[in-house]
This record gives sequence, structure tokens and C-alpha cells, in this order.
Amino acid sequence: MIEHTLEMKKQLFPFEERGCGKEELEHMGFNIAIDGPAGAGKSTIARRAAKELGFVYVDTGAMYRAMGLHILRNQIPREDEQAVAKACQDVKVSIAYESGEQQVYLNGENVSGEIRREEVGNVTSVISAYPKVREKLLHLQRNLAEKEDVIMDGRDIGTCVLPHAPLKLYLTASVRTRANRRYQELTQKGMDCDLEAICEDIAARDERDMNRAASPLRQAEDAVLLESSELGIEEVTSLVVGYAKERMRKGQE
Ligand code: DC
Repeated sequence: MIEHTLEMKKQLFPFEERGCGKEELEHMGFNIAIDGPAGAGKSTIARRAAKELGFVYVDTGAMYRAMGLHILRNQIPREDEQAVAKACQDVKVSIAYESGEQQVYLNGENVSGEIRREEVGNVTSVISAYPKVREKLLHLQRNLAEKEDVIMDGRDIGTCVLPHAPLKLYLTASVRTRANRRYQELTQKGMDCDLEAICEDIAARDERDMNRAASPLRQAEDAVLLESSELGIEEVTSLVVGYAKERMRKGQE
């Protein structure tokens, strides 16, 4: 585990800009933001890198998925922005860690397994474009990052949620590569699936995530680009860990 001294944090965070005092700074985490399209391997890489660095892994997609599940369960038309915003108003999404794994709760119920359904992913991709849905989760995400050393993955972490993160990464791979990986994953689980349909699904998600008005997916100007089409999990993880250690060292110099 890497220790982050107050001196280091002072150098890495523009804390005066954020109006933070010394006390707040002492409790502030060292944040790593990872963004990228669906299926680029963000969660696998972030989880492994977090383990190596002794950081907390925060999967923000899971929080959006919990909202998506709520909309699906309550049969609210996903295209009806007002109805979705209203339904999300009183929803409580929270996270906890059990044996180091993030668990997501929807109104007190652990929904970590159910949110992985394909159907939930599709609803989530539509409703996560609505500003009211995003607003609701923004505070939860920032609060977590202030308290802990986190690796947070999503679509808008470097551009919107943690704009001052000392390390930002943009992890991507071609649509074909991502579809192939998904296909392998599903067939290994014994599920019947069609590669072309997966390809189309991924391309449609990219289109929605990148072209929405509220916090679209894009590479932050100061993010490091990691193109993983030709790289394995181990290689990408060690690149991420390497960048993190380098940034932390720089903060100490
Ligand atoms: O990463 P994922 O597939 O679990 O994310 C599910 C959906 O949530 C995806 O369509 C995009 C959306 N999302 C988002 O808009 N912003 C984030 N920070 C994370 C996910």
C-alpha cells in the first residue's frame, strides 16, 4: 500500500481552487479516473489495479444500472425523461464493500447481481443521458472520492466527476475487439449469442454515450489514452499501476 502524505496531496490537488482547508485535505483521497466505452475492460483493469495499489475501486456504471433497474421494475417508459426523472427522485442508491467487492443497494436491497442483466444495461444506457439522473449520482461519487483513495471508472469521471484527479486514463478498444471479448465471455457461460448482434449493440451504446448532451463520453484533455485492442489484461493493468506510481512519486519530489 502506498502512503499519501499531506505534502504530496498538496502538490497533486489544486485544493485552494476547491476551497479546501488543511483538515479537509488530510482526509482527501488520491483519485484515479478511468473512462472509456462499454466493454473496453475498465472494470477488470480498475479492480486489479486497485488491488495492487491498495485503493478502493468504485464502479459508477453499477450505480447507473441500479437506477436503470428501478425504471425497468416499475415499468416506466425509458424514453419519457420526465417520468424517469420523477421516479429517480426518491430512489436511494448506495454502495458498500464486502470482502473488498463493491455491492450496490437499491432502496436497501442488494442488486449487485441483477444489474448485470443485458436488459438493465440497455435501459441504463438511455436513462443515464438524463441530467436529473446524473445529478443524483454525482454527489455520491464525489463523496466517495473525497474520503478514500479511489480508482473510479465510468464515462465522465475525468471530465466531470473528478476534473482535478491527478491521474486520468481513457481506456478504449475497437468495436470488433470489444464485441469479440463479450462474445467469448457469454459463450464461456454457456449462453447462446450472436456476434453481429453484440457488435451492433456496442456500436449503439457508443453512439448514445458519446453523443448525449449531458456529460458525454469523451477523453479528457489531460487523460492518458490506452488503446487495448492489442494488449492483454496483465499488460494494461501494469501500465495503469505504473502511471499511478509515477504520478504519486512526482507528487513527492
Ligand atoms: O459501465 P457500464 O456498462 O456498467 O455502464 C452502464 C451504463 O451507464 C452505460 O450505458 C453508460 C452509463 N454510465 C454513465 O453514463 N456514466 C458513468 N459514469 C458510468 C456509466
